[in-house]
Amino acid sequence: MSKASLIIIAIDGGAASGKSSSSCILADKFNLLHVDTGSFYRHITAELLRRAVPATDLAALKVALATLQFSTRLAGRSAQMLIDGQPAGDEIRDQRVNEHVSHYAAIPEVRQTLLAYQRGQVGVAEAHHFQGLVMEGRDIGSVIFPAADFRFFLHADPVERAKRRAAEGRQDSIAERDRLDSSRKTSPLVCPNGAIDIDSTHQSLDQVVAVMSSLIATKLTPA
Ligand code: DC
Repeated sequence: MSKASLIIIAIDGGAASGKSSSSCILADKFNLLHVDTGSFYRHITAELLRRAVPATDLAALKVALATLQFSTRLAGRSAQMLIDGQPAGDEIRDQRVNEHVSHYAAIPEVRQTLLAYQRGQVGVAEAHHFQGLVMEGRDIGSVIFPAADFRFFLHADPVERAKRRAAEGRQDSIAERDRLDSSRKTSPLVCPNGAIDIDSTHQSLDQVVAVMSSLIATKLTPA
């Protein structure tokens, strides 16, 4: 799956487990494309809510999904998904999307719609001369890139994660999203066999990144 010249790093974990912060630092350090797949699920959710297509109406959902056109543009080192040429708005981080996203993400047709797009980010990284990509989500090391060069799984105590969200001034349904994301039938949130499991509850972001970096540095020279 991983192209010989491009390094693929998968980072999975629950909500507010530190995936985005560590991914962004690694992307800068090793000149990698940063791909936040949670933002893709959030963008699709916002679009389906805008079109008033409920997660419970599979027939309407399939029709809507078939019409969505995906493309990518770069925002710094991050891949931004465009739907019908439009970037996601700030509302993808709002409580309304927080409450709905796991329901849409549990639907196999929604996940299937994003599968090829996510794997296609390797081509984006290549086209823009990155050394590889760091992709964060829930099923990256298990489903999207099971043969990634590095697969990390981040854990953190739920109380600590709630504190992190509060410190960001954001309201989030962390426990409920984790429950739904872990219990769904298709591509649930699991630590895949062979992934490097890191508990960040009592570790600073710098410490977590240092562990990841020392492993990645065995294959990649910092940029
Ligand atoms: O990473 P995040 O918390 O922004 O993700 C938002 C939601 O998207 C998450 O609750 C479940 C879904 N998601 C997913 O099902 N699979 C992924 N690879 C990434 C996110």
